[in-house]
Amino acid sequence: MTTFKVVTQSTSPYIDQKPGTSGLRKKVTVFQQPNYLHNFVQATFNALSIEKVKGSTIVISGDGRYFSKDAVQIIIKLSAANGVRRVWIGQDGLLSTPAVSAVIRNRVGSDGEKAFGAFILTASHNPGGPHEDFGIKYNSENGGPALEGLTNKMYDLTKTIKEYLIAEDLPNVDISSIGTTSFQGPEGAFEVEVFDATEDYVNLLKTIFDFKAIKNLLARPDFSFCYDALHGVAGVYAKKIFIDELSADESSLLNCVPKEDFGGGHPDPNLTYAKELVARMGLSKAAPVSEPPEFGAAADGDADRNMILGKRFFVTPSDSVAIIAANAIGSIPYFNSGLKGVARSMPTSAALDVVAKNLNLKFFEVPTGWKFFGNLMDAGLCSVCGEESFGTGSDHIREKDGIWAVLAWLSILAHRNKNVSTDSKLVTVEDVVRQHWATYGRHFYTRYDYENVDADAAKELMAHLVNVQSSLPEVNKLIKQVRPDVADVEKADEFEYKDPVDGSISSHQGIRYLFQDGSRLVFRLSGTGSEGATIRLYIEQYQSDSTKIGTEAQDALAPLVKVALSLSKMQEFTGRSSPTVIT
Ligand code: G6P
Ligand code: ZN
Repeated sequence: MTTFKVVTQSTSPYIDQKPGTSGLRKKVTVFQQPNYLHNFVQATFNALSIEKVKGSTIVISGDGRYFSKDAVQIIIKLSAANGVRRVWIGQDGLLSTPAVSAVIRNRVGSDGEKAFGAFILTASHNPGGPHEDFGIKYNSENGGPALEGLTNKMYDLTKTIKEYLIAEDLPNVDISSIGTTSFQGPEGAFEVEVFDATEDYVNLLKTIFDFKAIKNLLARPDFSFCYDALHGVAGVYAKKIFIDELSADESSLLNCVPKEDFGGGHPDPNLTYAKELVARMGLSKAAPVSEPPEFGAAADGDADRNMILGKRFFVTPSDSVAIIAANAIGSIPYFNSGLKGVARSMPTSAALDVVAKNLNLKFFEVPTGWKFFGNLMDAGLCSVCGEESFGTGSDHIREKDGIWAVLAWLSILAHRNKNVSTDSKLVTVEDVVRQHWATYGRHFYTRYDYENVDADAAKELMAHLVNVQSSLPEVNKLIKQVRPDVADVEKADEFEYKDPVDGSISSHQGIRYLFQDGSRLVFRLSGTGSEGATIRLYIEQYQSDSTKIGTEAQDALAPLVKVALSLSKMQEFTGRSSPTVIT
C-alpha cells in the first residue's frame, strides 16, 4: 500500500475569502494563486474542528468546470493530511449539487459509514474556463449549504491562517474509473472511493416519482420532449434518467456532454442564455420552428436550477412552484400523505401564497438563499419550496433540484393525461398553467437586473428607497403622478426574517412595496455577483379577474415598471436607461 507523509506548510492569509450566498466564487485565476484553495479548505477543516474531521468521510465533487480536476487532487491531499478517513468522489469528479445532497443524506459506505460533509466545486450558473469563474462551497451533515455561523467562522480563520497540513507525496488519484484506492498515513488508513455519480441520486428519485407513469407519457406519440443541460453536469443525470430509465430518445437531449467551459456558453437556464432550447421550443421570434416539442427544460452548470417550457410557452419559476404545490398530491407519490407546508423566497411572486391559502397549507416567506428552506425542512415544516431565480425543490434533499423539478412537471402531465386517449387532445404545459391561473388568479411577473453597477450608487439607490418609504401618502402621491391607474401602496418595508425554528434574525433582505390589489415591487442587491453591485428589481402584478388573465405579460406589467423606475430614480442613480438582463 502506498504510504504518505504529512507536511505542515506555512502560508499567508488572503483577505477576500468571504463565502457569499453559495460559497466562495472567484475567477479561476484567483483560485490559481499560491495556496489560495489550500487556505480555504484548511480554514474549513479548522472551523469544523479537527477532532470532528479526523476519521470522517468527506465528499468532493462538482460540475466539472475548469480547474475542478486540479482542485479535487489538492483537496484529497489536504484531507489525507488532516486525518480524514475517506473521501468519496463521483466518477470524473462530477456530482450535481442535488446529487451531493442526496449522497450526504443517503449513501452508506461498505463499513456502514456516512458522509460528514462535502466540498462542492462549482460556480453554479456562472460561465467556466481559464478566464471565467470557479467556486467551492461546503455542505453540512444535513445535506444543505453550511449555515452562516460556520461560514463566518471559516472566513474569520482565512484572515489569520498561518499554516496548512498536506500530504504532498500522495500520488494523484485516477478519478476517471470507479473503485477504491487505499493509502497509509502516519495516523492510519486513508481511502479514496470513486463511485457512479448517478447511483444514489437516481435511487432517491425512484422513491419519489412514479417512473412508470412518466415513461408512459414519454412514449405517447403525441408527446415530445427536449432537455438542455447547457453542457453542465446535468447531462450525466439526463442520460441516465431520461434515456436509460425512461426510454426517451437520444435526440431529446441537447448539450448533455459536460464541458469544462460549458461550450463557451453561460450555463444559466433562462430565456436569455438557454438560446438553443428557447429556439427549439418555438420561443424565438428570429428563428420560428414549425413543430416544437410539447415540453422543454434546462438546467444550470451544477443542475440545481431549472427552466420549464411548454410548446411556445414559458413557465415563470414563481408559477412553477405554485403549480407543483397545487398538483403534488395525486401526481407525485412522495406527497401522497400530504404537504407539511410550502415556502418561497421573498422576491418570488405570491402565486404560491394563493395556493397555500386555498389548500390550507402552512406557508413561509424567507429571504433569498436556499439555506433558509433547509431549517424549515429539518423541522418538518416544509415539503415544497421555490425561488424566482429558477430554483425549485422539496424536502427529499436540502438543495434545490433541477431534475426533480422536471420530473415533477412530467408527473403532473402524466397524471393529467392518464385518461386522455391519444386520439383526444393532450393536456399540455400551457393548459396546466392556464387552468391554474383560472383557479387562483395570475401573478404577472418580471425581473430586471442591473449588473455591475457602481457599488456606492447601488447603495444610494437602496437608501433612497428606504427613505421614500417613511411616508406612504408621499409614496402614493408620487406613484399617482406617474400612473394614476395603479392601486395604492398599503405597506412598504425592508424585509426582515425571523427564523421560526432557531429564532435567528436576518435583516436588510430587500425593499418591498405592497399594493392593495396584491401587486408588489421588490428591490434588492444580489448576493452572488462577482463584480460591482447587481440591483434586482422584481415586478409583480396580480390579476384575479379571469377575463383579464390572458393579457400579454408585458402589457399587464407596463404600469408597474414605469412606477418602479420612477420611484427608485433608477436612471438617475445608476446611469442606466435599461436593465442588463430581463427574466
Ligand atoms: C443562488 C442561491 C439561491 C438564490 C440565488 C440568487 O443560486 O442558491 O438561493 O436565490 O443565488 O441570488 P442573488 O443574491 O444573486 O439574487
Ligand atoms: Zn446552480
